[in-house]
Amino acid sequence: MYSRSIIVLDVSFCRLNGVLHELPSSVTTVRPLQVLNISSNELTAEFPSSTWNVMQSLVVLNASNNSFTGHIPPSLCLSPSLAMLDLCYNQLSGSVPAALGNCSTLKVLKVGNNKLSGIIPVELFHATSLENLSLPNNGLQGELDGGNIVKLSNLVTLDLGWNKLNGKIPRSIGQLQRLEELYLSSNNMFGELPSTLSNCTRLIIIDLMINNISGDLGRVNFSTLHNLKHVDLMRNNFSGIVPESIYSCSNLTALRLSMNHLHGEISPRIGNLHLSFLSLARNSFTNITEAFHVFKSFRNITTLILAQNFMNEAMPQDETIDSFQNLQYINMADSSLTGNYQFGYRSSEIWRY
Ligand SMILES: *[C@@H]1O[C@H](CO)[C@@H](O)[C@H](O)[C@H]1NC(C)=O
Ligand SMILES: *[C@@H]1O[C@H](CO)[C@@H](O)[C@H](O)[C@H]1NC(C)=O
Ligand SMILES: *[C@@H]1O[C@H](CO)[C@@H](O)[C@H](O)[C@H]1NC(C)=O
Ligand SMILES: *[C@@H]1O[C@H](CO)[C@@H](O)[C@H](O)[C@H]1NC(C)=O
Ligand SMILES: *[C@@H]1O[C@H](CO)[C@@H](O)[C@H](O)[C@H]1NC(C)=O
Ligand SMILES: *[C@@H]1O[C@H](CO)[C@@H](O)[C@H](O)[C@H]1NC(C)=O
Ligand SMILES: *[C@@H]1O[C@H](CO)[C@@H](O)[C@H](O)[C@H]1NC(C)=O
Ligand SMILES: *[C@@H]1O[C@H](CO)[C@@H](O)[C@H](O)[C@H]1NC(C)=O
Repeated sequence: MYSRSIIVLDVSFCRLNGVLHELPSSVTTVRPLQVLNISSNELTAEFPSSTWNVMQSLVVLNASNNSFTGHIPPSLCLSPSLAMLDLCYNQLSGSVPAALGNCSTLKVLKVGNNKLSGIIPVELFHATSLENLSLPNNGLQGELDGGNIVKLSNLVTLDLGWNKLNGKIPRSIGQLQRLEELYLSSNNMFGELPSTLSNCTRLIIIDLMINNISGDLGRVNFSTLHNLKHVDLMRNNFSGIVPESIYSCSNLTALRLSMNHLHGEISPRIGNLHLSFLSLARNSFTNITEAFHVFKSFRNITTLILAQNFMNEAMPQDETIDSFQNLQYINMADSSLTGNYQFGYRSSEIWRY
């Protein structure tokens, strides 16, 4: 990689182990290397920092899936054309360097599954070319500032799940017109879901599970989100009924609303969706007779989780579950149903809800 002629070097999956030595600081000639993939090896110890001073032609750096320690090197942005930086699945610590905000051509920044801490520096939001900002599974803190996030108007993927972020989802998120994937799962976010989310009309995935987001889910008009495929709102504090507008999302295949405070009957319109996964567990839905009647129109359902709803209702005697052609898993545990049916069994936590 320190060669004076190599432009592309892909040594991923080569079982390389040991240390990646720094280029001696006496070397000052700029190297022509543009694409470096050292991912999926067994490299350990400090990730080089000063080496990048002479790697000013770098466009793509993929060092993911090793065991590098140390910090994210701020000098990476000395390369004026850096477009992709993937450092996920390492042991990097410290904070996200403010200097990454100088990467004016950076489109992809992935540093998930490391040990980063601190707040996301405001300078990072100067990297306005970013299309994919993916920092999940770290220890990042602080709030998602509305004034900052809108600067990243090219974002397609925002993944900040499994961190320690708090505060509200800012209303300005609605200005991210290109957003397709939003992951904020397992943080400490609270407040209401901003109604402006319905302006992100290209959304395909909304994953907000395990937070404390509250309020009426009907605040968001889902009718504008035609592309939605996956919605996961598990373990929040949502209340009210399931908004009718969600039934117009004809591409929705997975919907998880479990562990909230939703109530009401299951709307017949849910049958229009081609869901393969539906979990409503641990809410206060009512009328199981009507629910089963509605579910009969599901053709593609493989997993149906209803546990801890329909309290004290009688299991409909004349209904059968035979009509679900593809159903592989059904959980109705702890629903205090009366009647003869004894299905519903326990499996791993994630499948239960
Ligand atoms: C190495 O990484 C580059 C950039 O991420 C990517 O284009 C290439 O496909 C990767 N090589 C392999 C074998 O995965
Ligand atoms: C980096 O390389 C890995 C293979 O080791 C690949 O799976 C991953 O997609 C690459 N990252 C990017 C952003 O292309
Ligand atoms: C990580 O690298 C190992 C080899 O070191 C490989 O077996 C594994 O599939 C890689 N994981 C990913 C997510 O690319
Ligand atoms: C939600 O808030 C409650 C009460 O403030 C707190 O006990 C709980 O840990 C919070 N859960 C999450 C996932 O933030
Ligand atoms: C929701 O959006 C749809 C489509 O844009 C619109 O027709 C409808 O009136 C909206 N509903 C509400 C309650 O604003
Ligand atoms: C949960 O929502 C209720 C109102 O629906 C509210 O009173 C309560 O403060 C919320 N809890 C949290 C932790 O946000
Ligand atoms: C359940 O819904 C059906 C159809 O809307 C209705 O006829 C029935 O009375 C409801 N049952 C209960 C217990 O509310
Ligand atoms: C539903 O299942 C049918 C038959 O298995 C398949 O052809 C169709 O593509 C599926 N639809 C969706 C939306 O997954």
